[in-house]
Formats: sequence, structure tokens, C-alpha cells
Amino acid sequence: MSSYPVKIVSFGISIPDKVVTNDDLATFLDTSDEWIYSRTGIKERRVVSGDETSVDLGVRASIMALDKAKLKPEDLDVIVCATSAPAHLYPSTACEIQAAIGAKNAFGFDITAACTGFLYAMDVANAYISCGKYKNILIVATDTNSKFVDWKDRASCVLFGDAAGAMVLSRKDSGESDILALDVKSDGNLKDYIVLSLNGDNCPVCDQGLKESGKIQMLGKDVYKFVVSKMPQFIVDTIENADLNVDEINYLVPHQANVRIIEAMQSRLGFGDEKVICNIARYGNTSAASVPIALFEGVEQGKIKLPSKMILCAFGAGMTWGAAVVNISKEVFS
Ligand code: ACO
Repeated sequence: MSSYPVKIVSFGISIPDKVVTNDDLATFLDTSDEWIYSRTGIKERRVVSGDETSVDLGVRASIMALDKAKLKPEDLDVIVCATSAPAHLYPSTACEIQAAIGAKNAFGFDITAACTGFLYAMDVANAYISCGKYKNILIVATDTNSKFVDWKDRASCVLFGDAAGAMVLSRKDSGESDILALDVKSDGNLKDYIVLSLNGDNCPVCDQGLKESGKIQMLGKDVYKFVVSKMPQFIVDTIENADLNVDEINYLVPHQANVRIIEAMQSRLGFGDEKVICNIARYGNTSAASVPIALFEGVEQGKIKLPSKMILCAFGAGMTWGAAVVNISKEVFS
């Protein structure tokens, strides 16, 4: 079977304007800036307001990524959207973004892998391009968890923020793929760790017995313990799958869920702070969007120097988790 190298072409991000600080949360919750910051590293997060949805965020991130890729919407073959907090269950967010940007030659679909969605979308795009079936793929990660958190549950609502990130991948004519290793996993036995159920008792002629909350419910301590025991070794294994040593990796770009989790990964890799990208203080956990936003900002703010090899990693409801070793060239941000 043919195997074509994959090029990471560009990124785009979109962040809502509305800032919600820890002090804002303390006006209606029994919490404090001190508790939230010391346990999570979060100072503030952004949330959508008015009629802004995950589609609007996804469209803005997609247009930025396409502009930077110097591609027209019609050049796209596929749109893979990672969302677990969409505006609608259907039509898919990918189809809505397709219509909004005018990607008339593409088809699109959504992936539900919570905070790992960006890595899952990368995996699909990588496979589609490397097998030769498609040439230009837009992946968009967009989540508006502010619409689904239980704002009365101080143990979970303080963690999340809304945002979108996008990436364009294309077939390379020759050379090495920019994706050096990529591995995604899930363990459905841990399905109760983070749950967003639908309210479904709807049928007038039968009792469907569904009395779900319709809000995010999370066993935070179990998530924390699982991730700290699983992720550090998993990212080392992914680096080895790329035939690289840990010291050949320039940066760790982790999912921004809790600064203490990031520190556990950093410690396993033996990286100094200058090699770890962390922007959780300003955005909280933006779910599938968190890795592309951290990477984008790391470059824009000069913390990440290019070209570089980096390890991206994420984990989320399912439980799902994933990691990728990527080579980002200077042109991606030129
Ligand atoms: N403010 C003040 N007190 C609080 C708050 C708050 N916001 N939240 C919880 N507390 C209290 C608890 O009620 C508890 O009080 P008690 O001792 O009187 O019972 C105390 O603080 C300690 O609570 P813990 O749950 O033990 O706190 P912990 O140190 O474990 O931190 C946290 C909780 C931040 C949620 C942590 O467990 C965590 O980050 N877990 C991982 C979460 C995560 O990564 N989720 C991924 C989601 S991604 C996705 O897929 C959607």
C-alpha cells in the first residue's frame, strides 16, 4: 500500500471575548481564587455569550487556518471536527462549518472523544492522507463546555472554558512526514469518570426511565489519579515509537486540564519549564481546543522556536487519551 508523507500546513484559533475570572465565580459559588489557582493553575477562562456557539468559534479558527495555509475552502477534501460540546447533535458541527466557509468539495463529520478529540482528528486525517485517498484536510476542535457544566458544582465548573483550534494537513510531495508518531487509546471501563448525559425521557407512550442531569458530572479525583498514572509513561512510549529519545524533543504541548497533571508529565520527561507550554491560567480547560491553542500561542509569544519537534498529548472522557510527536516547520507560522 502507498504511504504518502503528511505536511502540517497551518493553525488557527478562536477564543471568545468574555472573560470569567475566579473572583467572578466566587460571587455565586462557595469557592475562591486561592483554591482554584492553587489546585488547578487556572486564573480565568473565556465563555461564549449571546448567540455565539461552537460553530462560530470553529468557523473563525478554520478561516484563520485556511488563510495561513493559502488554501481556498474549495481545496478541502475533508473536514474532521472534534467536538463533545456542540451546538446540535445533528447536523454535525463539521457540516455547519463546511457550509459557513464554503468548502463545497469537502465532506465532513464529527468525532466525540472529549478533550482527546484533536488527537483523534489528527489520527483520522493522518490515515486519510497517508493512504493516498485525500490531499487537503481541515481538522477543527471546538467545544463550548460552559453550556453543559453544572454551574452549581464547584468541583467541575471552575475547570472549563470555551475555545476552538484548527489545523490544515496536506499531502507532501516527498520527504519525511511531519507526524512522526501518533497513538490514540480509549478504555470504556472508565466511562463513568466524566459523563455528559442527554435528557431523554421524551416519548409520550412509554416510560423511558431516563432521568439524566444533562450536565457534566465528573469524578475529578479518579480522573486525576488515572491520568497521572497513565500519561507520563504513555508520552515516553510515543516518543520512542517515533525512534527518538526524550532529549530530542524540544517541547511538551499538553492538554491544559490541571497544572499539577502537566507537572507530573514534565517531571517524567525531565524537562525544564522552558520546554513546557502552559497557558491554563488564562483559558482553563478548553477541551479538544486546548492543545492547538497552547501550540499556537507558544509560537506567537516566542516560547516555541521553530523548527521543532514536539510531543502533543491529551486525555478526556471515555476515558480517551492520545499523543503525537510532530515536526513543526518555520513556514507553518510564517
Ligand atoms: N472551591 C473550593 N473548594 C472546592 C472546590 C472549589 N472550586 N472544588 C472542590 N472543593 C472542595 C471539595 O468539596 C473538597 O472539600 P471536602 O474536603 O470538605 O470534601 C476539597 O475541596 C477537596 O476536593 P478534591 O476533589 O479532593 O480536590 P482535588 O485536590 O482532587 O482537586 C480537581 C479537584 C481540581 C477537580 C482535581 O481532582 C482535578 O483536576 N482532576 C482532574 C480533572 C480533569 O482533568 N478532568 C478532565 C476533564 S476533560 C474532559 O474530557 C471533559
